[in-house]
Amino acid sequence: MGLGYTGLPLAREACASGMRVIGLDENSAVIAALESGRSHISDVTDADLARMRSRGFRATADPGLLAEAAVTVVCVPTPLDEAGQPDLTQVRTAARTVGAHLKPGTLVVLESTSYPGTTDGVVRPLLEEASGLTAGRDFALAFSPERIDPGNEHFGIRNTPRVVGGCTPGCTAAAAGFFRRLCDRVVEAGSAREAELAKLLENVYRSVNIALVNELAVTASALGVDVWDALDCAGSKPFGYQRFHPGPGVGGHCIPVDPAYLTHWARTAGRPLRLVELAQQINAGMPAHVVRRATGLLRGAGKDIAGARLLLVGVTYKRDSRDLRSTPAAPLTRLLREAGAHVGYHDPYADAWTVDGVPVPRATRLREAAAEADLTVLLQDHSVLPVEDLPHWAPLLLDTRGRLRHTTAHVL
Ligand SMILES: NC(=O)c1ccc[n+]([C@@H]2O[C@H](COP(=O)([O-])OP(=O)(O)OC[C@H]3O[C@@H](n4cnc5c(N)ncnc54)[C@H](O)[C@@H]3O)[C@@H](O)[C@H]2O)c1
Repeated sequence: MGLGYTGLPLAREACASGMRVIGLDENSAVIAALESGRSHISDVTDADLARMRSRGFRATADPGLLAEAAVTVVCVPTPLDEAGQPDLTQVRTAARTVGAHLKPGTLVVLESTSYPGTTDGVVRPLLEEASGLTAGRDFALAFSPERIDPGNEHFGIRNTPRVVGGCTPGCTAAAAGFFRRLCDRVVEAGSAREAELAKLLENVYRSVNIALVNELAVTASALGVDVWDALDCAGSKPFGYQRFHPGPGVGGHCIPVDPAYLTHWARTAGRPLRLVELAQQINAGMPAHVVRRATGLLRGAGKDIAGARLLLVGVTYKRDSRDLRSTPAAPLTRLLREAGAHVGYHDPYADAWTVDGVPVPRATRLREAAAEADLTVLLQDHSVLPVEDLPHWAPLLLDTRGRLRHTTAHVL
């Protein structure tokens, strides 16, 4: 249920393992595309989809087909609301729909990332109320986090260990049995809550470590120490240290969102997680730091940021990805516009891009655009970009990725 970045790859794996799979989505455009053989998810190719369809995969918007399922996996979005708080609307709607069609003996798995207690305290009562059945007795209910890393060629659903945690030991066993058919290794958590916390821990770990190097980059640059060199040196340690990279901010569906689920949970219980909250603030402040650096560099060149032409190179949230969701390039563009700059972008992965409803002009020719810009800012060093040429083309260049050190480029 939910045929997006997580649901569709899972459906592919289930088809490949010989299961009969129905994909349910409420978005009719998604259904129409999949039924006509086109995948909207970059990690699932049209050829993958053709293989799935030859094995009987069908995409549908008809929730009535849930009654045919022995296992239902819920992969719907868990975004933040306008106040930056967890928004479980789609999980609740999905739970009511599943509950309305639930048959005894079914296994229901929640895969959407959320705070501890969601499966037991939010999904379970809705399922039980809509179905009149009892979890742990009439049907099994478990949480199993998705660990997919879009674009990762080495790790997919099959060879990434899968954590499962059920509402009862029997629910855990049922979910573990299901996922053993899809994954090489299944790790059984003591409860659904522990599995929910494990998923948030994984992404918060990234958020906190990224914040650490981001703050170091800001401070070291102010104090005249090359943070990139320090990172290289520290990264040579073969144990006890994992390398993270500073950058213009965090983006995507997970790192800017998941920590807010954890901090909301802890704060609601009166036990704020200060380190996690601070990391969120530091990461969210990086676009403003890029603007300060840009302003200073332009001033050094005798120019004002107001009226300056800025070219952003690489605006998707992740290297070699087409995904623009929550990209830090958006708040950066907003701040630059507020400062009066004219912002354009070059990105082979983004044909069109709007920020706050206003299109950002796209430059198709990087060389000419960089030569004409007052300042070029490298945000994402996609491997298809001729990054090494930028110092020759751009009169003024800010590199937020540390790729162009020891050239005429200025680093973050
Ligand atoms: N994208 C990632 O890399 C990633 C990684 C790990 C975990 N997750 C988590 O997985 C969950 C899903 O994320 P995603 O990126 O796959 O989302 P997505 O937006 O790509 O896809 C979700 C799909 O669910 C559908 N949907 C929503 N409500 C529905 C309903 N009631 N019935 C049927 N379909 C419904 C939407 O139409 C959409 O197609 C989130 O909780 C996310 O945090 C995502």
